[in-house]
Amino acid sequence: MSNSTAPGIGRSILIVGASRGLGCAMAAEFAGRGWHVLGTVRGAETSLHDLAAERPDAIETETLDITDHDQMRALGKRLAGRQFDIVFVNAGVANRSAIDTMATVSKEEFVHAMLTNVLGAMRAVEELGGLAGPGGVIGVMSSGQGSIANNANGVNDVYRASKAALNQAMASYAGRHADSGRAMILMAPGWIRTDMGGANAPFGIEEAMPQIVDVLIAQRDSPGLRFLDRHGRPVTW
Ligand SMILES: NC(=O)c1ccc[n+]([C@@H]2O[C@H](COP(=O)([O-])OP(=O)(O)OC[C@H]3O[C@@H](n4cnc5c(N)ncnc54)[C@H](OP(=O)(O)O)[C@@H]3O)[C@@H](O)[C@H]2O)c1
Repeated sequence: MSNSTAPGIGRSILIVGASRGLGCAMAAEFAGRGWHVLGTVRGAETSLHDLAAERPDAIETETLDITDHDQMRALGKRLAGRQFDIVFVNAGVANRSAIDTMATVSKEEFVHAMLTNVLGAMRAVEELGGLAGPGGVIGVMSSGQGSIANNANGVNDVYRASKAALNQAMASYAGRHADSGRAMILMAPGWIRTDMGGANAPFGIEEAMPQIVDVLIAQRDSPGLRFLDRHGRPVTW
């Protein structure tokens, strides 16, 4: 197993939730740029495993369900002593129906969205964020739909609420770690064609991911909390 201090590796990223979609594309993009990638997955046969088989020099995998606190702590222990330039928590879920409101969503679906997008994502930040080195970046995949100011029409009520809560929790984390010297980035990637984004999304992964990666890399050595889109522009909270 390689790590960030291994020969030839000066640029490294830990991506939580890299099995498919944006997370896997992010792993491929960073590896293509010569970075070392440690990606976490839940399943045993994922697109990240395929990628790691093609690029064993650049990509390694770990197992993590972000809603499983024991798994989270165990991963934190396994990675103790490692250091990454960027720790990025990508994992997230949408509830099944965009038109569900708080009146119609089932309690189970609501809890699932909140457990994953808020508690799970933030426990990953709490447990693994410290692996980002000095001047490094702790990033979380938020959404433009997490913006309260930009919510004029509703739709995706549950998902929006989960990402807004994620943003709020990340602001608390950033406040508590204001002297850490790390950038803390909430990324609004735009609406992108993935399993979650669906076929009607206006942007493809191929177009969007290089932009997302450019923005993340540019945040190094710029401490502080920022909610950014994939062009590096601030998103209104
Ligand atoms: N696509 C868009 O338009 C869009 C827009 C804004 C924000 N986002 C955000 O971007 C992130 C990735 O979205 P995507 O479009 O790539 O969605 P996706 O294709 O549905 O992929 C979701 C990813 O999250 C992982 N995941 C879900 N629950 C998890 C858990 N409990 N533990 C660990 N991993 C978990 C999935 O792993 P499994 O394979 O194991 O299920 C998968 O890797 C999400 O946070 C999403 O909210 C997406």
